Amino acid sequence: MGDVYAVRLVGDVSDMTIPTRAAGMRLVVVGRVPASATRPLRQALLRPHQRLDEVQVPGEDHPSAAWFGAIEEGEVVGTAGVMPEDRDGLERPAWRVRAMATVSSIRGLGIGRMLLDGCVEHAVEHGAVAIWCSARVPAAGFYRGAGFTPLGEVHDLPPIGPHIDMSLVP
Ligand SMILES: CC(C)(COP(=O)(O)OP(=O)(O)OC[C@H]1O[C@@H](n2cnc3c(N)ncnc32)[C@H](O)[C@@H]1OP(=O)(O)O)[C@@H](O)C(=O)NCCC(=O)NCCS
Repeated sequence: MGDVYAVRLVGDVSDMTIPTRAAGMRLVVVGRVPASATRPLRQALLRPHQRLDEVQVPGEDHPSAAWFGAIEEGEVVGTAGVMPEDRDGLERPAWRVRAMATVSSIRGLGIGRMLLDGCVEHAVEHGAVAIWCSARVPAAGFYRGAGFTPLGEVHDLPPIGPHIDMSLVP
């Protein structure tokens, strides 16, 4: 398969196809993509119980929302999005990170963190004073590593499972 190299770029990377596998390496490019480009992977990894036309979340097409993708050979292999959404217990304006996922073949390489950092930076640039997410409990350590702290109690969101809200004051 070759070593994986990941780079985060400024701007839209959704049409970026850099054929590198033949050279014995894999290149994953992280940057902005349209929300629509992230939906198939979100459906496959996060919401297999839903149809593709059901995976949209409220606010994902907000004019200030940003979606980030990890692209390998023209395919979306990681996603995350951020949009304004206030929450009780947080200073306003607050922004929410959603649909954080990377395919298993690229996990543990820092690519999820690149996607999350893109979301946090975008929210801060747009005036967020708090950033939060509803973390799946098995992923809570990922957010903790990026500075997020628990907010409230663990709660079940069937059919996905236990979640805990977490927040970051940048
Ligand atoms: C959670 C997820 C997005 C992490 O993506 P990733 O690409 O593996 O993350 P990274 O490699 O950037 O990890 C960054 C850091 O977080 C740590 N980390 C990653 N996943 C973790 C987890 N589940 N628990 C604890 N720490 C984790 C990594 O070890 C790394 O630590 P380091 O900086 O000390 O080396 C990915 O595992 C995933 O898609 N999981 C399934 C879907 C899911 O649960 N998404 C979250 C929905 S709320």
